[in-house]
Amino acid sequence: MVETERLILRPFLESDAEDVLEYLQMPMPNCFACMQLKSMQEVKTLLKKRAAETEYCFAIVLKATGKVIGEIDGYPESVNPEENSVADTVSPCWMLHKDYQGKGYAYEAAHAFFQYLFCEKGVRRIYAYTEDDNLSSQRLCERLGMRREGLFVEFVSFVKNPDGTPHYENTIQYAILKKEWRG
Ligand SMILES: CC(C)(COP(=O)(O)OP(=O)(O)OC[C@H]1O[C@@H](n2cnc3c(N)ncnc32)[C@H](O)[C@@H]1OP(=O)(O)O)[C@@H](O)C(=O)NCCC(=O)NCCS
Repeated sequence: MVETERLILRPFLESDAEDVLEYLQMPMPNCFACMQLKSMQEVKTLLKKRAAETEYCFAIVLKATGKVIGEIDGYPESVNPEENSVADTVSPCWMLHKDYQGKGYAYEAAHAFFQYLFCEKGVRRIYAYTEDDNLSSQRLCERLGMRREGLFVEFVSFVKNPDGTPHYENTIQYAILKKEWRG
């Protein structure tokens, strides 16, 4: 569990289903289109799986009310082709309920998550992909001190155009190294 001034980051519980359905049924950016859920049954299935993930997948909980207002996760990846190499790179995903955006909660949660990854989990590099029209996610990366490393033009497709062809997104990559992290 990770605690900040206004938030607690903790593993998901099966009892979080109502709060999670509230934000996972909202309209999503294209990159999260596959995460959108429609029914309580779908959320319960997801939470059964998530409840077992205790290290890298957290509910963002408002201390004042106990409500789950979003989520943050990111799993260690290895960038070294050798077998048994250390998985020391993480690409986080963040999402907040729309009623709780614009209040600094995403920054507070992401800052605490980065501190946890760098200082407790031995992570060396954190990178984030964000689409070029997702300005709130870009601002969050910048507030966290991440460097803009590049723009990949028509890099990936998450959804289709009305005519059925792939809709390609321009993707910006941000990153920060542990030695650059000011904590
Ligand atoms: C990306 C996302 C998590 C960012 O959330 P957010 O609420 O905009 O980010 P922050 O918590 O950093 O809040 C920043 C805003 O709160 C304002 N704010 C208000 N009170 C504040 C406080 N006490 N402390 C800090 N900032 C505060 C800031 O001024 C800032 O406003 P600005 O964006 O107009 O400059 C959110 O937009 C989201 O969930 N989007 C949908 C999912 C998504 O796109 N995920 C990323 C895919 S790449």
